[in-house]
Amino acid sequence: MRWSSISGISFLLFSLFTVCLAQTREEQFANPPKDYERHLVFRVIPNNTEQLSLLNKLYLESHEFHLDFWKPATGLHQYADVMVPESRAKFLVNTLNSTGVFWRVTIPDVQRLIIERESPKQTSWFSRLGNNFMTRLFSRQKKETGAYYGFGDYHNYDEIMRYLDDVARIYPDIAKTFIAGTTNEGREMKGIKIGNPAEDTTKRVVWIDGGMHAREWASVHTALYFIKQLVENYNRDPQIKRFVEELNIYILPCVNPDGYEYTRSDITPKARLWRKNRGRINCKNSRWWGKICCGGTDLNRNFDYHWSETGSSASTCSEVYQGDYAFSEPESRAVRDMLMSNELYGKTDAFVTMHTYAQMWMHPYGTRTGDYPNDVAELRDVARRGVNALGSVYGTRFSYGTGADLMYPSSGGSDDWAKGKAGVKYTYLLELRPSESSWDGFLLDPRLLIPVGVETWEGVKVVIQEVLDRNRNGAVDGD
Ligand SMILES: *[C@@H]1O[C@H](CO)[C@@H](O)[C@H](O)[C@H]1NC(C)=O
Ligand SMILES: *[C@@H]1O[C@H](CO)[C@@H](O)[C@H](O)[C@H]1NC(C)=O
Ligand SMILES: [Zn+2]
Repeated sequence: MRWSSISGISFLLFSLFTVCLAQTREEQFANPPKDYERHLVFRVIPNNTEQLSLLNKLYLESHEFHLDFWKPATGLHQYADVMVPESRAKFLVNTLNSTGVFWRVTIPDVQRLIIERESPKQTSWFSRLGNNFMTRLFSRQKKETGAYYGFGDYHNYDEIMRYLDDVARIYPDIAKTFIAGTTNEGREMKGIKIGNPAEDTTKRVVWIDGGMHAREWASVHTALYFIKQLVENYNRDPQIKRFVEELNIYILPCVNPDGYEYTRSDITPKARLWRKNRGRINCKNSRWWGKICCGGTDLNRNFDYHWSETGSSASTCSEVYQGDYAFSEPESRAVRDMLMSNELYGKTDAFVTMHTYAQMWMHPYGTRTGDYPNDVAELRDVARRGVNALGSVYGTRFSYGTGADLMYPSSGGSDDWAKGKAGVKYTYLLELRPSESSWDGFLLDPRLLIPVGVETWEGVKVVIQEVLDRNRNGAVDGD
């Protein structure tokens, strides 16, 4: 009798505790800020050079105009997606109309879409309590046999870290966590190394990362999905077994945890659509948004390869702020230090960094149009086969080429640096779903997360298999 009442009370306390823990984000969904300013997303398609150069001018000075280019225009007939606060929409419309460029509003209220896409499915207090408790119970049971992560939905950084620890604990022979560095806000940048035996550091290496840009949540989920495939299929799939036996695969699912947590901290468009890291942020109170923050560095402009030359900005308020100097940020330094460590340097044959969105498979160099490494033919061949394998699953179509040729030149990217400075042969930057035919951009429907993981894994397996084949054939890198 006593025991049952004690466990009854502790059950109650435990449940209250879990509800409190889980509530910050849920609470926001239940009580969205009332005085926020509505944000809209415009899709704009330039049909002549005058229209294109107007869009490029707006892009380069977007922070002056309070515009956030989810996707810049990359050429004639290529779409741009631009988020704008309602108070600036008239200016944007007038400016666009002055050139007669084609535009339409694709998202009339960004925050409403955030709520629609990302709020917890159960809304009543009681069902939330039950739901939470069942999830935790289920995840505990699941831990007896395998590591649990709620794939098919977005989760916070702690849950991501817990999953990595669980994988390392449950598959100790083939998996081991590593800490690449510590962020500006003091978070550990934890990743996982998969290879049998876990302690071996002599094999050839494949590097995979995601989440360099805070709002690109689907890339984080995709990297985690790869981990699941490797550890759970090790004993089931002969190809995976060879990957794990013959290579060391390093996966850092979230390169920018401070930014990731910031995008989860608040459901206003300003927070959810944050791109950079959270270094040197200054926030001011504003009449419209409550808080306006400036600062943060675009990590994918902060690497030391033609740093600051093109497609990046020296203004701290810009979305593509390059930092005060190359590798000024702990997050980019952490990637550098891993790739340059004794454990990886001279052994890494592939570097795959995942972003969203636009459905593109990019190889170096992104700094200038028409600038290619000597082995570009091999890089393109693997990219083409990767894109085909990816497309064979659901018919998703990716284009491939350099970032400069496909999009616009930009310097200081991690992929260019990995190729040009760290000497990694197969270096790719993947821009995952969605494509032009969709309009929701970074707010990808969580129901699409697993399909994105499935198809991207098919593409990335082509790269890993290529690394395996090259080393079997004893190929020696020519450059
Ligand atoms: C802008 O142009 C569109 C047609 O392209 C038109 O419907 C709209 O009224 C114009 N708006 C302004 C403010 O000029
Ligand atoms: C521009 O071209 C696109 C197709 O590329 C077409 O759908 C659109 O109507 C054109 N817009 C204008 C204003 O000519
Ligand atoms: Zn990105």
